[in-house]
Amino acid sequence: MMNNQSAIGVFDSGVGGLTVVRALIERLPYENIVYFGDTARVPYGVKSRNTIEQFTEQMVQFLMEQNVKALVIACNTIAAVAGERVRRLAGPLPVFDVISAGADAAIRHSQNGPIGVIATTTTVNSNAYARAIAIRQPNYRVISQACPLLVPLVEEGWLDHEVTRLTLREYLPPLLAERIDTLVLGCTHYPLLKPLIREEIPDIPLVDSALTTAEAVAYELEKRHLLNPTTQTPDYRFFVSDIPLRFRAIGERFLNRPIDQLEMVSLG
Ligand code: DGL
Repeated sequence: MMNNQSAIGVFDSGVGGLTVVRALIERLPYENIVYFGDTARVPYGVKSRNTIEQFTEQMVQFLMEQNVKALVIACNTIAAVAGERVRRLAGPLPVFDVISAGADAAIRHSQNGPIGVIATTTTVNSNAYARAIAIRQPNYRVISQACPLLVPLVEEGWLDHEVTRLTLREYLPPLLAERIDTLVLGCTHYPLLKPLIREEIPDIPLVDSALTTAEAVAYELEKRHLLNPTTQTPDYRFFVSDIPLRFRAIGERFLNRPIDQLEMVSLG
């Protein structure tokens, strides 16, 4: 049975959600975590809603079988198009997602907008950030820019590379032309580009949804008396639907620590 020592279940289309795990580990160092990354079917950012909903359902089922005490949608694309589906499947389990946490933080940072959002194509087309911000603050304009080239550049490890810098110089100017006063990093991979983005736009505050999600999880679990009361070294288990070449190296870069317990599970 699920209790307050049960793990937090975190899931993503692949390896990117490890940025959220990293933030969770830093914020909640005694929590057990079980992660699922759908590495066999990544990327989700160019796929349709129906396909993403179907894949997501399988991951949620798997995590619920592990008796998790909460679910964290670490993938912006999943949060954008399948958040409702996850909440329905989860029933009474608390569900957190990077878009709600990112929208909350964007409003805290912004003076009066417009708020810029960079994300995958599917996230931008879904308009999910604009809707999440409009619910909280209907007067703020949201300007979104799809940046499909950034995910592969980050996975390649080109975090401080001329090609990535030039790519940002293509993607960012339309947002700057609208005089955004805050930029939401609306994709799991983008927190790794923070130093480079800061160099390009030093005066605009960046919202890192990995950090704000971890903050939201900490707040809500405490409120619900669901924090793990023990202070033993926690258990981190990582499940993936495929172990591609260089997975460990890329994953450890996202997580900023070694991945010890890694297992492959076929879904669907
Ligand atoms: N995890 C995805 C996101 O945050 C990026 C990778 C993908 O396209 O699957 O939007």
